[in-house]
Amino acid sequence: MMNNDIQEILCSQQQIKKLCQELGQQISRDYKGKKPMIIGVLKGAMPFMMEVIKHIDIYMTMDFIDVSSYNGGTESSGHVKLIKDIDSNVQGRDVIFIDDIMDTGLTIDYLLKLFRGRGARSLKTCTLFNKDANRQFHLQPDYYGFDLPDKFVVGFGLDYQNLYRNLPYVGVLKPRVYQNK
Ligand code: IMP
Ligand code: MG
Repeated sequence: MMNNDIQEILCSQQQIKKLCQELGQQISRDYKGKKPMIIGVLKGAMPFMMEVIKHIDIYMTMDFIDVSSYNGGTESSGHVKLIKDIDSNVQGRDVIFIDDIMDTGLTIDYLLKLFRGRGARSLKTCTLFNKDANRQFHLQPDYYGFDLPDKFVVGFGLDYQNLYRNLPYVGVLKPRVYQNK
């Protein structure tokens, strides 16, 4: 079973749920009277986004964007490619990007630069994890759940070779998983 590949759990289901509730409530307070556009970064943001929006108690719209910087491994390629753009118009909108993790910051930096020219009223970012040991840009997520040490983690949207996104918690893989490639 997939569970047997996990060496250590860093965040349990309960911790993640509680955190998502707090983030949703915080966003509801901060955006009271506004109608934010929540843009999920495919595919890693999906479980996190679905959990957070349950607790957003104001009008909001959703859209999705797909970019890739990783090529499936554990090291960033240093380039971002736009794979799928959003469908809606961001003119005058208060945009919140939701992603699984901010690591080097390359992905979010790319998205912020792309959207600055599109006439959004405001741009904010929300990630489940903040891993700032390898940060290459002067950036921090506006909202985030947990600080992470410099470890590669999987689960709750985070993948290794496109697997493990469906784990309901977040953990570290056993070394043999990387050796058996
Ligand atoms: P950044 O562009 O370096 O900030 O990284 C953002 C993307 O890298 C995330 O959306 C993830 O897809 C991926 N990533 C970074 N760290 C991890 C990790 O520990 N596990 C799985 N994916 C990661
Ligand atoms: Mg990813």
